[in-house]
Amino acid sequence: MRFAIFLILLTLLSIRTYSQHGDQQHYYWPEDTLVLKKLSWWQDQKFGLLMHWGTYSQWGVVESWSICPEDEDWCIRRGPYSADYFKYRRAYERLAETFNPVRFNPEKWAEAAANAGMKYMVFTTKHHDGFSMFDTKLTDYRITGPTCPFSGNPRANVTLEIFNAFREKDMGIGAYFSKPDWHCPDYWDPYFPPTDRNPNYSLKRYPEKWQRYKDFTYGQIRELLTDYGDVDILWLDGGWVQKCEDKALPDGRRQVNQDIDMPAMAAMARSLQPGILVVDRAVEGPDQNYLTPEQRIPEKPLAFPWETCMTMATSWSYVPGDTYKSSPELIHLLCKIVSRGGNLLLNIGPGPDGEWADEAYQRLEDIGSWMKINSEAIYNSRPIAPYEMQGSVYTSVGDKLYVIYLNTPGDTVRDLQINIPEGYAAVPELLGSSAELKYNVRAKGKAIDVTMSEKDALLFKTSPAFVFRFLKE
Ligand code: GLC
Repeated sequence: MRFAIFLILLTLLSIRTYSQHGDQQHYYWPEDTLVLKKLSWWQDQKFGLLMHWGTYSQWGVVESWSICPEDEDWCIRRGPYSADYFKYRRAYERLAETFNPVRFNPEKWAEAAANAGMKYMVFTTKHHDGFSMFDTKLTDYRITGPTCPFSGNPRANVTLEIFNAFREKDMGIGAYFSKPDWHCPDYWDPYFPPTDRNPNYSLKRYPEKWQRYKDFTYGQIRELLTDYGDVDILWLDGGWVQKCEDKALPDGRRQVNQDIDMPAMAAMARSLQPGILVVDRAVEGPDQNYLTPEQRIPEKPLAFPWETCMTMATSWSYVPGDTYKSSPELIHLLCKIVSRGGNLLLNIGPGPDGEWADEAYQRLEDIGSWMKINSEAIYNSRPIAPYEMQGSVYTSVGDKLYVIYLNTPGDTVRDLQINIPEGYAAVPELLGSSAELKYNVRAKGKAIDVTMSEKDALLFKTSPAFVFRFLKE
């Protein structure tokens, strides 16, 4: 019985996250030709880096959520003040006074990401806690603020430094920006205690306060899109900040209408950065230029632009000693996502000193070694039926077909059966090998049996995935 209830709860939970960042949402194709052009460029890039970084990394706690007074497991507080909300929040906000990431070296990150084959980067310029990782003129709660020790560092405006370093590597630039701001007195008015993630005052009763909040938010986005060079993506998180009906949700939470006037925000963004992609995450409508399933891969190819955001370890934010996914697992994720028409935005959480964990560099290096041989099956590719079959995933680029066998490293594969879609010659080439392949065409020419040479079998024993190329007939 308990198990049945557990299963039902689990299903309900997955439905919730599904509808939040779901691929069931209706997609609205942009009409602006510059946006369409950027979108098609973006869809070809396939692989990007996400970074969640803020003062919270000093405690190794979840980004922002521990100051949200919700009884959700991801809001759990840690540390000496955890039993007292207000003491905890004060201590959390005072993390700004000790944040001093002196090992910050964005060129090193950009180099590692570029070598791994990443083509764009999205950085948390401001998360829900409201701490601005850029030199905003609109609040003191910022990395260049008077009480933050790092403000004296010549590279204190870390958003600018990160954007420049990644742009230098020809990577696309994305600004993660949280629509909710739990530090701003016009979102969480200090007069009232906050009760959940929403504004803690009535917007109907205090419309002027909400107007101030809107002005502040527009002002910060204007700064980011004016003083930080070319930005390709405005990645807006905090989907509960949206135009909606006030009501109680089935799970007891409040849905609060907090209309931030997205059409106006998108128009402002595009007046400053023509063609910029606006990703109003989880809000169904024309301002969500692509969908962003979180920590999961849609079950089948989707007919619109999408990107899975996923953590390389277990947490978005830095946690000491976090467990990293293995390199083969990460490479398989990338291949699967791409074979379903999506992009992978892989997250690393920098530590309080401004460095990544060694594992992050090592995983990127492994991915890079694989990409050096096989990336022609990834970039610019399109999904092609049968998408996934007998341990392989399929992609196509122009007149080439790629069959990517997802290997369990350590297994010596000698014989493989490959099904070939209509229109391609049944002549396989193995990327990274010059040896001629032995193969046998089955009846009707739709499938072949490939026998790897002993040398290749040994060579590819350690490879997480090997790729066969076929040409059009
Ligand atoms: C989740 C987390 C949020 C994080 C986001 C990244 O929604 O709650 O903190 O920024 O994932 O996709």
